[in-house]
Parts: sequence; C-alpha cells; structure tokens
Amino acid sequence: MVDKNRKYGMSTIGVHLGAHDSMDAQFHPVNIPIYASSTFAFPTTDDGAKIFAGESDAYTYGRLSNPTINDTEVRLAALEGGEKAILFGSGMAAISTFLLATLKAGDHVIADKTLYGGAHSVFLHVLPNFGIEVTRLDTSDIESVKAALKPNTKLLYFETPTNPTLRVVPIKPIVELARANEIITAIDSTFLSPILQRPIEMGVDVVIHSATKYLNGHSDLIAGVVIGNEELLAPVFMGRVHFGGMISPFDAYLLGRGLKTLKVRMDAHEVGGRIVADYLKKQPMVKELLYLGHDSHPGHEVAKTQQSGFGSMMTIILHGDLETAKLFVDSLQLITRAVSLGGVETLISHPASTTHSDLVVPPEDKITAGIIDTLMRLSVGIEDPEDIIFDLDQAFEKIQSKVKIVAD
Ligand SMILES: Cc1ncc(COP(=O)(O)O)c(C=O)c1O
Repeated sequence: MVDKNRKYGMSTIGVHLGAHDSMDAQFHPVNIPIYASSTFAFPTTDDGAKIFAGESDAYTYGRLSNPTINDTEVRLAALEGGEKAILFGSGMAAISTFLLATLKAGDHVIADKTLYGGAHSVFLHVLPNFGIEVTRLDTSDIESVKAALKPNTKLLYFETPTNPTLRVVPIKPIVELARANEIITAIDSTFLSPILQRPIEMGVDVVIHSATKYLNGHSDLIAGVVIGNEELLAPVFMGRVHFGGMISPFDAYLLGRGLKTLKVRMDAHEVGGRIVADYLKKQPMVKELLYLGHDSHPGHEVAKTQQSGFGSMMTIILHGDLETAKLFVDSLQLITRAVSLGGVETLISHPASTTHSDLVVPPEDKITAGIIDTLMRLSVGIEDPEDIIFDLDQAFEKIQSKVKIVAD
C-alpha cells in the first residue's frame, strides 16, 4: 500500500508504485503476475455491456489493455511525473504512433535536425505522405525556431541529448515559445531516463523513451513509452488500438522489474561513466572525447541547468584510420560490440564499420551525419569501472605501435 498523499522518492516509486495494490486477493503475490491472456471474460452479458458503454474500466482485450502492462505504465507515469503512460512494443512504435495520432493532414511540425535515425526517417519519409508539413532545424537556435513558426504549427519535437552526437538542446526556451503559441512539445529523453532529466517538470507536454535502453536496462527486450497528460494522450491510446503496437505482458513485466532498479542502476552508470570518461580524456590515442560531464563539451553548461547528471554515453574519436579503429574495437574483450545502449553491460558501437559502413550509407550521408572512420560510441554499463578501463587499456596497447600520432 502506498500513501497517495506522499511524494515518494524515485527509488521507492521504482520499487513500489504500480496498479497492483488491489490485485490478486487470492494469493497476495509480492510481484504482479504476468497476465498471459489475450482476452478477459465478462462475468455476465450485463457486465460486458457496461464495459462497452464506457461505464466500467474492466479489462476486455489484450490489444487495448492488460493488468501487467497497466502496472508498469502506472510506475512509468509516476517516475516521469506525468498523468499517464502508454506502453508500446518498441520505441519506434511509440514515436510513430504518437506522431500519427497527434498530427493530421494540413498540420505543420518542427523537428530537430538531429534525431535517432528511425525517428529521422519518419519525419523525412512518412509524415509528408500524410500531408503533414515538416521543418527540420537546430532547435537549440530558438530564433530560427521562431522564424519557422506557422499558423498551423502543431508540434515541436526534439531529443536531448541527441543520438548519436550528444548535442544538448536547451529545454526552457522551447517550452516558453511553444506555450506562447499553443504548440505541443514532445521530447525523446531516452539517453537520460527520468532519474537524470525531468522534462514534464520543465513544462514539456510529452516525454517519449525507447524503454529498450536505460528504463529496462538489461538488454533483453524492445519497448517504448509515451508519457503526458490524459487529454493529450487520449488519441495516442486510440492510436495504439488502431495501429496495434501493443507491448506484450511478458515484456511489460520484465520492464517493470527493470524499473525497480532504475535509480541504483542510473547512479552506477553515472559514477562509472565519469571514471571511464576521465580515463579516456587522458589517453594519448584518443583524439577527441565527447562526454557531457566534461566542461570541454559544448553542451556542458546547458546540461548542468536541466539535467541532474550526465549519464554514461560518450563518443570517442581515435587517432589513426579505419583500420586502427577496427583493430581497437576488435581487441576489446569485456566490452561488447553491439548497437543499442543503456544496458548493465558496456557496449561499443563503431558506425563506420556497421550502421554507417559504405555498404549501408552513401559516403556523403555519412559525412552529413558527422560519422568519421575512427568515431565510436560507448555506453558505459555498471561493471566495476576499473575492469572497463583494464579492457580499454589492453585494446589501446594493441593499436599503440601501429599509429603515429600527429599533432593537428
Ligand atoms: C534516442 C532513441 N529514440 C528512439 C529509439 C528507438 O527505440 P527502439 O529501438 O526501442 O524502437 C532509439 C533506439 O536506439 C533511440 O536511441
């Protein structure tokens, strides 16, 4: 039982808050059961009639709602400080359903020029097909956002920090401008989680996460969530019903379990991220390091004003060439070569040989995206930082003899 009047801390919310207080009166399980049921029986035809008349909110069909899913949604809404959370089967299902449910033909949307690749594609290739006009720009340049406003501008959409460039977008000026013009604001806050960034408290209307990442934290499921007030989310709920991007009860259970340790995991990510970044900063083979916690990062000062930590994402650019970078990445033993981020294990991704290799992306697009051959993205996990550093160290040793560092 929780006291509805108390403002609980984030760890307590993660462990205790849910919709399950009154559930399972028969066995009193400490954890919510996984309700693996696609449909829910009506005790009588009259009970069924009440549900369909909107007079009862009992469960009906698994694409609409499910007790396990609802439990995790209640906890997510509480963590983010929003009225309601709606879970989806992926971060992309959350983003595309939110956009298609919120916008209609004739609307104009302003989106930041740097977005996660999948979201970028939806703005570029999907929304225009539905008669939705899209302007892409640098939303941290508030004057250019102002200049781009139109009478039909309905939504301002951005990420901060951005994937993959770790650019910080100031939230406050965007909220002020949007409120003055009655425009909805939506932010993808995946890189920080509600432990390190609380956009709703700063006036943002809608917060979106790829819950695949820090929220779940164990790299064992794909999920997404949209959080905001009841009114704004009503069409998003119907969007989930129509497009069918519902999360499964199994994944919702796992995600709910992940949320119980969100605060302690984020604390460990924060500490480990700082130690690893400080080590990398001093490494002679590192030409450039982008980590939000260092004052050399262009977004550091803004980050301090709107984040309560810097997270564990960093971008490393090595001296040398493509072969040096490949040898470095291939030499790692503990650190896992994989895309994605935010898991308990440290992951490294090397775009030039994977997501942005010549076979996948035309060279000119690679340049536009700022991907150079020796750039890699590190998501620091919660292992002992000295073990992560040991692994990096032995990989640096392997490339040291091969690269002549030239001052530039
Ligand atoms: C910032 C961000 N938003 C959204 C997504 C999409 O999430 P998902 O892979 O869960 O569909 C990702 C995936 O990497 C991401 O990094």
